[in-house]
Amino acid sequence: MNYPTIKKSEHKITPNLPDYEEAYSNFDWEEMKKEIHYFEDGTLNAAYNALDKHKGTETENKTALIFIDTNNKEQTFNYGDLIKQTNQFANTLKSLEIKKGDRVFMFLPRIPELYISFLGTLKLGAIAGNLFAAFGKEALEDRLKDSKAKVLITTSELLERVNEVKDQLPHLKKIIVTDAAGSTPFKGTGGSIEPLSYHNLMSKASEEFECAHLDEDSPSYMLYTSGTTGKPKGVIHAHGDIVQQHLTSKWILDIKPEDIYWCTADPGWVTGVVYGIIGPWSNGTTQIVHGGRFDPDTWYSIIEKHKVSIWYTAPTAIRMLMTKPEILEKYDMSSIRYMASVGEPLNPEAIVWGKKHLNLPIHDNYWQTETGSIVIANYPSMDIKPGSMGKPFPGIEAAIIDPKGIELEPEQEGDIALKSIWPSRMKMIWGNEEKFKSYFREAKGPQGIQHWYLTGDKGKKDTDGYFWFIGRDDDVIKTAGERVGPFEVESALVAHPAIAEAGVIGKPDEMRGAIIKAFIKLNPGFEGSDTLKEEIQQFTKKQLAGHAYPREIEFREKLPKTRSGKIMRRVLKQEELGEDVGDISTMEEY
Ligand code: PRX
Repeated sequence: MNYPTIKKSEHKITPNLPDYEEAYSNFDWEEMKKEIHYFEDGTLNAAYNALDKHKGTETENKTALIFIDTNNKEQTFNYGDLIKQTNQFANTLKSLEIKKGDRVFMFLPRIPELYISFLGTLKLGAIAGNLFAAFGKEALEDRLKDSKAKVLITTSELLERVNEVKDQLPHLKKIIVTDAAGSTPFKGTGGSIEPLSYHNLMSKASEEFECAHLDEDSPSYMLYTSGTTGKPKGVIHAHGDIVQQHLTSKWILDIKPEDIYWCTADPGWVTGVVYGIIGPWSNGTTQIVHGGRFDPDTWYSIIEKHKVSIWYTAPTAIRMLMTKPEILEKYDMSSIRYMASVGEPLNPEAIVWGKKHLNLPIHDNYWQTETGSIVIANYPSMDIKPGSMGKPFPGIEAAIIDPKGIELEPEQEGDIALKSIWPSRMKMIWGNEEKFKSYFREAKGPQGIQHWYLTGDKGKKDTDGYFWFIGRDDDVIKTAGERVGPFEVESALVAHPAIAEAGVIGKPDEMRGAIIKAFIKLNPGFEGSDTLKEEIQQFTKKQLAGHAYPREIEFREKLPKTRSGKIMRRVLKQEELGEDVGDISTMEEY
């Protein structure tokens, strides 16, 4: 079905970026740095920009954070409160002898301590790493071991999972627990690290701290992300990202100080860091954080009660809301003036739904953990073609290229690639130079040598310059917007005593975009059954993460393998989709 273009909306308020085309043709990153606070010596600090620059302005006494917990109890923090508490946290780390460049990891649900410890870590110049609270012990161990994290901040509930892997982490020196008095003994701690109380440490720390003066390339935060093969990789970002974090929040999400802004993403993932912590506060707005799970009634009532004006969410959530129109009818959503979505393809029906039920188009945008900020987007000042991700951000050149790096003509399908460097592009892959290099392709084209960054996604550009997402070029699975590497799931599965071999694919799903499906060959003596499926699912959740388990399991006598013994996910996927598997002459089994 062809969806008509949605003409650029008549905005009640003039957008921060009134003319996209004009900005694109006259753009200069150096010029844009004027929006950022640099210290007199030419250095900067992203946390200073998010918080401390507001000190002494009228923003200091304004609400920065409205936190709504799992029981819908609320707590508010103004900018001044966050400045002081992040200073206390930076001083706490200093008292624990943590230095610039050390890794400080947060294994926390969405609670205020997560936001405070994250920015406090940046103030000191240490590298903040976030771990999604649903991670199981294998996922935790992989990330903490690889990063050699020195400090971990967690809750007493999550500490139990940490305790299971703590002895495998020789570099971990301190564990800070957010919800326990200092004298409380911790169950099952064992080992040599005695957890410290967050509140005891904070109460002893000074509220004054001078942010570290750092180069643009100084690492600020790291997030682990999944590729096709191997364990997850640590993507390193730097303080200089702030230019783009600030500007994309302002121009794409249209954040203004007077907005009530809600980004529903968890800071365990990049959206929750860039557009759920740094970018919005750098723009001086009031942010909502909801600690609870997705629930249509709760979400709508938060919007109604707090008069949320900008809502940044994900396609799976929108699709789930679309199935319950009767719930929407009970609430007044008229406060929302701007809506955006990210993380997976936003189907045109969702845009049409937004227009019909909220009288707003939903602005899809595209980026990755590695790009560090949005790179392709729909802007308030641009017509929307439902189903398209929009156009590249000013200062970014995007193209569709062939395997040799030659730019393709409009409407031709190819690799989505970005040219040269932009401020928030990852600075390295932690301890893996080879992997970092694999993202780039040098090509000799008609205009000489070009350097491309490869997104790993396939797409096309139309004759009007709009980009359209087609799919991943690798086996990475996007399930409900979360990026899962099949290798991680396969490794977790084969750790189960009944499983000999496992192949994992993303199976298309209307609601979640894709679900994880596992094909399993059992060890001799084991019989496939529903009970075993259930047991395997629980096992994977515990090992890996609440979201990264196979919703579907199929037992097979044999799995398709290459002669060298590699399971061919491509064949499993094609069979699942009823497609022709093509030439399988190189296969060992089958
Ligand atoms: O495949 C693309 C998909 O999500 C990947 C990046 O995932 P992650 O690193 O977890 O970053 C999430 C924050 C954006 C991309 O390579 N993706 C992201 N946005 C879109 C998308 N696919 C289609 N449409 C989008 N708007």
